[in-house]
Amino acid sequence: MNSEIIKELTWRYATKKFDPSKKITSSDLSTLLNVLRYTPSSYGMQPLKFLVITNPDIRLQLQKASFNQSQVSEASHLIVICAQIETSPNHIDEMTELMSTTRSIEIEKLQGFNNYVKGALKNLSGQEMLLWNSKQAYIALGMFLSNCARLRIDSTPMEGFEPDKYDEILSLTQKGLKAVLVCPIGYRSEEDHYSRLEKVRKPLETLIEFLD
Ligand SMILES: Cc1cc2nc3c(=O)[nH]c(=O)nc-3n(C[C@H](O)[C@H](O)[C@H](O)COP(=O)(O)O)c2cc1C
Repeated sequence: MNSEIIKELTWRYATKKFDPSKKITSSDLSTLLNVLRYTPSSYGMQPLKFLVITNPDIRLQLQKASFNQSQVSEASHLIVICAQIETSPNHIDEMTELMSTTRSIEIEKLQGFNNYVKGALKNLSGQEMLLWNSKQAYIALGMFLSNCARLRIDSTPMEGFEPDKYDEILSLTQKGLKAVLVCPIGYRSEEDHYSRLEKVRKPLETLIEFLD
């Protein structure tokens, strides 16, 4: 077993109280933004947008729309993970073009892929499409949390907020987006006793089953 990895994962915890005086360096922030960029998504469609919010007034408004959880305004940076409301045929075309230029493949050779993705998504209802897009947001969150821990940056994965209010405060609907997850990042406060609590996890014996 790789003890370094386990050490990182047990160092990480859902931070309840950040030290507002400690800020993430621009170098660490760049690393983490690239983690979001390199997150995988189904068919590579990346139906996501990430907002990095430092503006204190906006963050105070968002804190009120987050059951007053103080991490939203006290952390160094606030990341809001948004899903596109839909993955339109036009979006699929744009991503196919990006694949074509990035890998120098003629667009005609990607037509089969393009049709396949369009076919797979065309029968989804609006709600199913948003759900599919939102699932991609959770993958980004998982990658983000573990890489924050590698950098010894604290984080709080958050679903405890009112998405409709976020959409309104951040004018997301008109951009075709929906707030799905929130993740304040920064440095834990010494006063946060949660950092010293034992992790509560099912034992491996009940969590994992081998079918040999
Ligand atoms: C999707 C998701 C949403 C969560 N929402 C919140 C939240 O709104 N506020 C909060 O303080 N913790 C939130 N948590 C943190 C969990 O309660 C925490 O991860 C869990 O109890 C395990 O503890 P640990 O992360 O400290 O190991 C959330 C976690 C996940 C994965």
